[in-house]
Amino acid sequence: MQETPTLPILNIISGSREVAADGQETFVATSTRAAETNRKGKVYVETYGCQMNFSDTEIISSVLIGEGYGTTDNASDADVIFLNTCAIRDNAEQRIHLRLQQLKGLKRRNPKLVIGVLGCMAERMKSALFEKEKIVDLIAGPDAYRSLPQLIELAETGQKAANVFLSLEETYADITPVRREGVSAFLSIMRGCDNMCSFCVVPFTRGRERSRPASSLLDEIKRLSDEGFKEITLLGQNVNSYLDETSTVNFAELMYRASLVNPKMRIRFTTSHPKDISEELIDVMAERPNLCKFIHLPVQSGSSRILAKMNRNHTREHYLEKIAMIKSKLPECALSTDIITGFCSETEADHAETLSLLREVRYDYAFTFIYSERPNTPAAKHFPDDVPSDVKQRRLSEIVAVQRRISDEIHRSLVGKVFEVLIEGNSKRSAEMWMGRTDENRVVVFPKAAQSAQAGDVVRVEIVEATSATLLGKQAL
Ligand code: 5AD
Ligand code: SF4
Repeated sequence: MQETPTLPILNIISGSREVAADGQETFVATSTRAAETNRKGKVYVETYGCQMNFSDTEIISSVLIGEGYGTTDNASDADVIFLNTCAIRDNAEQRIHLRLQQLKGLKRRNPKLVIGVLGCMAERMKSALFEKEKIVDLIAGPDAYRSLPQLIELAETGQKAANVFLSLEETYADITPVRREGVSAFLSIMRGCDNMCSFCVVPFTRGRERSRPASSLLDEIKRLSDEGFKEITLLGQNVNSYLDETSTVNFAELMYRASLVNPKMRIRFTTSHPKDISEELIDVMAERPNLCKFIHLPVQSGSSRILAKMNRNHTREHYLEKIAMIKSKLPECALSTDIITGFCSETEADHAETLSLLREVRYDYAFTFIYSERPNTPAAKHFPDDVPSDVKQRRLSEIVAVQRRISDEIHRSLVGKVFEVLIEGNSKRSAEMWMGRTDENRVVVFPKAAQSAQAGDVVRVEIVEATSATLLGKQAL
């Protein structure tokens, strides 16, 4: 990003690629930097949850900088502290309650400090959050970020400030996000979700589905390419139902056009819904080399009975047909998924179907979750959360064990093969090693060779060793 040395520096606490596509509440702090003026005070933002939230934090930064706010990477130095939150599972919210407890000391030392809760948890709890957490001065839902400057001003007068209005139109299309410098950028192409999976709080926290116009997305992709980004991930809760109503560009067409902007730039996407993923998209992915051969396709359960109860609008058989179509057209494509274990009324037979589906599909990776009842969702209203927690736990371990063996086998089968790896930076373990990703989204760690390479370069790497978690390589000629 642009840095202006004479001005203070923006530090938005943000997350790295280790935050999973699926909404895991992993928090990894890194800095975003941009020019800013600090006229109105300093803001500190912490982001939790899915990549969509991380992308939203970049929009929040842009709104605040535009209004003359500065920021800091030091919470104790801030005039305003924002937590951009996730509500997908109860433990995501518990983390925020804990964090708010920790912030009490800062508020005591500086009573003028404004503490705000943004994002999905703010939207879910609305003003009840003010009652539960007395130190919260401001709440803003995912469609309310343009009003943050006014909300801060209101909170500074000592009033509780809230905007949890959900919009039918807001896509923040005209706001250029403040991104941290790097190899890889995220771009929200749509917001909200209309699917109403019975377990899921997202339709209530992020509202109705709406797509950002294709022309503004393609302009931004061009700008990102000019700025030197090497990889872009298109984000949405259900990217397959992307539709620019004015130009009738659908997701397959958007991917096609995105791939032409810079044929050397990798394009990824997440998340897909099995009922909407189209043959047209897979054909476009097969045709265009820079569309990455990796699909995250959440299945949630292997049992059609449970899928119906989850209101997923697909059966096990439909899902497996889609997988067969993908495998026949894109044999090299890697797959990952999300699984919820212990959903209401899940039996041992249902669970066995999930295990058998894992064996049948052979995903590279699965994100596995214990069902967490979310207040006011259809499942919470209509079905008892009746699988005992020790049973949920045991089923989760069985799922993890089966998947680990499959990941391990897939990884071992890659030993001896050579892949084009986009270097993202130093490996976490050693500055002597690079960490990068293959087209199929597999992480590879390899020693820095004598010849100079740098983050952002694509190099050929031969896989020499593999475990279920890591691929170790060496640079090939
Ligand atoms: N309990 C557990 N996991 C959930 N997910 C969504 N809602 C819940 C819930 N109530 C999981 C799904 C989804 C991922 C983002 O989070 O697997 O795909
Ligand atoms: Fe939630 Fe289902 Fe929408 Fe995904 S598709 S965000 S699981 S309602």
